[in-house]
Amino acid sequence: MPAKEAKSKNIIDSIMYSYSTSANQYEEENRILKETVNRLKEEIGRYRDSPLMVCEVREIFGASAIIRIPNGNQFLVNISNDCDKLKSGDLILVEQKNLTVIRKVPITRRFNVEKFVIVEKPTITWEEIGGLSHQIQEIQEVVELPLKKPELFKKIGITPPKGVLLYGEPGTGKTLLAKAVAASTNSTFIEVVGSELVQKFIGEGAKLVKEIFEFARKKAPSIIFIDELDALAAKRIEVGTSGEREVNRTFMQLLAELDGFKPLGNVKVIGATNRKDILDPAVIRPGRLDRLISIPIPNNEARLDILKIHSKSMNFDEKKVKIELLPSRMEGFSGAEIKAVCTEAGYFAIRNDRTYVTKEDFLKAIDKVKQEEKTEGQDYMGMFG
Ligand SMILES: Nc1ncnc2c1ncn2[C@@H]1O[C@H](COP(=O)(O)OP(=O)(O)OP(=O)(O)O)[C@@H](O)[C@H]1O
Ligand SMILES: [Mg+2]
Repeated sequence: MPAKEAKSKNIIDSIMYSYSTSANQYEEENRILKETVNRLKEEIGRYRDSPLMVCEVREIFGASAIIRIPNGNQFLVNISNDCDKLKSGDLILVEQKNLTVIRKVPITRRFNVEKFVIVEKPTITWEEIGGLSHQIQEIQEVVELPLKKPELFKKIGITPPKGVLLYGEPGTGKTLLAKAVAASTNSTFIEVVGSELVQKFIGEGAKLVKEIFEFARKKAPSIIFIDELDALAAKRIEVGTSGEREVNRTFMQLLAELDGFKPLGNVKVIGATNRKDILDPAVIRPGRLDRLISIPIPNNEARLDILKIHSKSMNFDEKKVKIELLPSRMEGFSGAEIKAVCTEAGYFAIRNDRTYVTKEDFLKAIDKVKQEEKTEGQDYMGMFG
């Protein structure tokens, strides 16, 4: 019965076939599960590892080292055999229990400086600054000319100042000037705020200063603008608390950096302060920020200049408003306050559903800014009264 035989053989074949295909499928499944288990085991291993502490090397003695742990305490510890060669100042990872040095952290820069300072390429032009022509000329001589024509100074045989200090009342245009000179020399503008430097980065201020200058050299030509310099460089009667010592270290580093770079290099430093009276004379000694530029509260003529700049794109009838008559009503206003007058005048127009500004809007705005200045002054007196 060959026909019957053949039939049963076919059946057996098909059964075997179906078994072998499903066996393949199970094998595949098995493989995937094994992989998953391995991966999860690795992951658990990662959770089990105890964390290493980041410390700093102070001193090396053969196979041991003095390290400084983050809270400031120092220990003498062993260095593991597998660790790369260390030098003082290196960042290292240590075992938490016995503080054995496991390995070096392969970074040279401690901070990402760009995160801590404002870096920009400003676009402010000299025309946008009103009433400071004398100051503009001075800053051009000291900052712009050496950056643009260093050979001129070499020929004459003098060294230009390394930087300038702008001092004056708030809102008079110090930041504006610094940005304008950065724009005119196409320099990178690096803005650091003195009070932030000492408050935010406790214990790290000095290092950060060092790295800011390094960064500036890399991005040269560049201008380092240190606002609120007084927070960093105030005269100290005595250095008592650790906070003061910290400020002092940061300040010393700043002086060291100022002394360190060449006057004809393409990094310039501009400091700004409202309190020149409390500044440590060390920072304005020759060879440091030795050119002092006073930024005054604008006089009548300067106020008109500034008013023209900020009202340039405003919509008003020049015959009716007579802008030349306004500055005499703004005695004692700073540039920032004059700008505020323009903004407020615009708001008065908006409130009255107009798209143009009238003389009354300006007058009301002047009164409003004056009032604000007065209440602010009273608050200030209240603080001490
Ligand atoms: N001389 C000026 N010409 C034109 N605008 C000015 C002038 N002075 C100040 N302003 C306006 O006031 C704003 C604030 O000025 P700026 O930031 O330069 O003041 P500052 O002197 O740096 O003040 P602070 O001491 O408070 O930092 C500027 O953005 C600008 O719009
Ligand atoms: Mg400023």
